[in-house]
Amino acid sequence: MQKDPPCVMVIFGAAGDLTKRKLIPALYNLKRSNLLSDNFAVIGVARAEMNDGEFRRRLRDDMNEFATEEIEEGTWDWLEERLFYLSGDFNDDQTFARIKETVEKIDNERQANGNYFFYLATAPQYFAPVVERLGKVGLTKQDETHWRRVVIEKPFGRDLESAKNLNREIKQVLEENQIYRIDHYLGKETVQNILIFRFGNTIFEPIWNRRYIDCVQITAAEKVGVEQRGGYYEQAGALRDMVPNHLLQLVTLTAMEPPISFEADAVRDEQTKILHAIQRPSPEETATRVARGQYGAGNIDGEKVPGYREEPNVAPDSTTETFIALKLLIDNWRWADVPFYLRTGKRLAARDTEIAIQFKRPPFVLFRDTSVDRLTTNRLVLHIQPDEGISVRFGAKVPGSVMRIGSVDMNFDYEDYFGKTPSTGYERLLHDCMVGDATLFQRADQVEAGWAVVDPIQKAWEIMPAPSFPNYEAGSWGPKAADDLLGCDDQKWEATHDINEKKHP
Ligand code: BG6
Repeated sequence: MQKDPPCVMVIFGAAGDLTKRKLIPALYNLKRSNLLSDNFAVIGVARAEMNDGEFRRRLRDDMNEFATEEIEEGTWDWLEERLFYLSGDFNDDQTFARIKETVEKIDNERQANGNYFFYLATAPQYFAPVVERLGKVGLTKQDETHWRRVVIEKPFGRDLESAKNLNREIKQVLEENQIYRIDHYLGKETVQNILIFRFGNTIFEPIWNRRYIDCVQITAAEKVGVEQRGGYYEQAGALRDMVPNHLLQLVTLTAMEPPISFEADAVRDEQTKILHAIQRPSPEETATRVARGQYGAGNIDGEKVPGYREEPNVAPDSTTETFIALKLLIDNWRWADVPFYLRTGKRLAARDTEIAIQFKRPPFVLFRDTSVDRLTTNRLVLHIQPDEGISVRFGAKVPGSVMRIGSVDMNFDYEDYFGKTPSTGYERLLHDCMVGDATLFQRADQVEAGWAVVDPIQKAWEIMPAPSFPNYEAGSWGPKAADDLLGCDDQKWEATHDINEKKHP
């Protein structure tokens, strides 16, 4: 891989969770892979009072918990002496004057060539004001000799209108090519592999269409509840939290046409076309194509867990959904009439993210006069996490003198082939931002097209009463309404499936 250029990274929200859990461990891993330039430095900015020494010590302690492998002290020392801290209020112009002074000083000392990127790991209400103030002090101005970029975390807006407003505000300061809207799902190896799998092989693409595929089922199931994020989640819910971003990424990568090249805009153009082709349901259609749920108390791994309404910072009569299942239809030549079923939820029976491609049954039962009464269907599953791999299910003759067909699976497990590659999922994204490759980041029109898909659902819910919550038990597979959604098409959710049960007993 190309080595990262000299640059200074400024993290807004440096005292928060993302910095300690993902960003610093990812930077450490990048150094381990020898990708960071020696002329690299990080300036953390947050409200908490701290000096450089305290900031470094705190992050070193956090690394004990969040590093993806045993810490190699030489590597940490290298990174540590490049970590700096500045305390300040994001609403105060003074803070930005001091940021400018500090960035320029460190740039001079470290010879970072004037290249800066600003990572907004803050609450979303600060995105636009921080960008505006960075612009005001001249920190976003780039030219042929140096670059300036801004990475923006999710949630990017809370509906179509707010996403458009946010785009408008930040584009008053930044060019589109300076904005890196991040979706951490795209940092996952297995998500990136969808494109290689589809377009780096010849055997799958000819059958990747409505002639052979019956339906696509995408599951992103979590065992965890809302943890300490009740305040945020009450405002978000499963639809906003997971669908316009993570799940639609999986849909677009699965459904898109081959791009004309692997350039950022070529790939993003094809993804965006899929978003535009997704049917917008009427309120009546929303009632039959979307199911929502909220978990009640139950058991996870043999332990009793409380219901959503009992979680901290959650209203005792909350109508926020913690589960959503939906049926999407894509109006284009390749996918007409092939339903894409999506489901995601908290406190489900397993942690499992996968894309299951369900193929049609063979056109007729050749083995009619034998004891075979029903043919198996073929299923190809892209396992995203925690298993990483691909499996293909097909029918095979069960040995014996009687003709019988059994379902068998052919499995490819990433780890078996490539070994363990410790990663936080942010390494590739940080690296791409430094080398200026925006392929795995969201363009403005793409984010807006994602919100446009969920907008009709949000609007329909505003006028529809919420179902009687809670309607699924923690540790189950969600509400019955999610099964009914498929039942009407004579399909059912395929059980999620572990490619290596020995590893995840
Ligand atoms: C985040 C959501 O974006 O993604 C969380 O806000 C969710 O609610 C998380 O738990 C899932 O990501 P991952 O990588 O753990 O599957």
